[in-house]
Amino acid sequence: MPTDDITATRQTLLDRVESSDTPRDVLRAPELKKLYGAIGSLPAEERGAYGKSVNELKVALEAAIQAREAVLDSASIEPIDVTAPWDLNSTRPALLPTTQGTQHPLTKELDEVIDIFTRMGFAAIESRQIDDDFHMFEALNFPENHPARDGYDTFRTEEGFIPPAHTSTMQHRILKDGKETLEKGGHIAAISYGRVFRNEDVDATHEHTFYQVEGVFVSKDATLGDMLGTLRSFFEVYYGQSLKIKTQPGYFPFVEPGLEFAIEKPAALGGKPGEWLEMLGCGMIHPNVLRTAGIDPSEYRGFAWGGGIERLVMLKYGIEDLRHFEAAKLNFLRKFA
Ligand code: PHE
Repeated sequence: MPTDDITATRQTLLDRVESSDTPRDVLRAPELKKLYGAIGSLPAEERGAYGKSVNELKVALEAAIQAREAVLDSASIEPIDVTAPWDLNSTRPALLPTTQGTQHPLTKELDEVIDIFTRMGFAAIESRQIDDDFHMFEALNFPENHPARDGYDTFRTEEGFIPPAHTSTMQHRILKDGKETLEKGGHIAAISYGRVFRNEDVDATHEHTFYQVEGVFVSKDATLGDMLGTLRSFFEVYYGQSLKIKTQPGYFPFVEPGLEFAIEKPAALGGKPGEWLEMLGCGMIHPNVLRTAGIDPSEYRGFAWGGGIERLVMLKYGIEDLRHFEAAKLNFLRKFA
């Protein structure tokens, strides 16, 4: 009976699809050809029903082939666990070293700096990497053509934008945003950290790209003593020991008085008594800077400071050359793992 042939062949061919790596070949199987070939030899009245059954078998085979192909496809894609550490013994090409990566030392130390200041009650915001003349100079009490502008070796784009030469470009924004808090009886306490840029010749102590942290505090009664206490606390926590500090006058148009803040290099970090290291610039915020931000200098006063991160880190770890930080040398970076 031709229909019995169909049933038997159907099972054989479906089984073959299931176990084949090239299931589509089953469509060319001699058994299937034989079933088609038999159509012509059947009595005319049986041909219709028989032909229909053979076609149904072909449709069933096609569906089984597609399902099998999908299974084969997905098996050929090896699942990748992106969280797995790179395996030294993997047979795959090892393009990367197999040890785990680490945070860049500056990122790690910057996190530490931010952590110390946030624990002291300062909010932390990242500084901008592109800015304008107003925030770089005008809002900071550098009038146009003021000679102190030259001290900042500032880059400028053709359109007049400025990659900031210090994080002080954030001062005006911090003051303006904090004005409302002040008026409600609160105070402003924020740090701003980020990358700054200066058109400098690069050597062991100068980079064109480096990092700074800026601090701004404003209240009704902030004093220079509060500032020195804040800075001393920060440095003592960061270096994990008590420190001697000193200040000397320094000129920055946006503070009055302006100071340079130094610490005595601790013996534990290879310092000799009387060896002072200048760490940052600071001072009481100039009345013009407060006024430009809409804060009345006869009611409120504040202090600000700003300094480089690299210098902090170099002292902590005895790093002798600033250029290491940007050099992408793995031997250097791995020391901070
Ligand atoms: N922005 C100054 C600099 O980079 C440092 C500074 C910040 C001085 C805040 C006073 C107050 O040289």
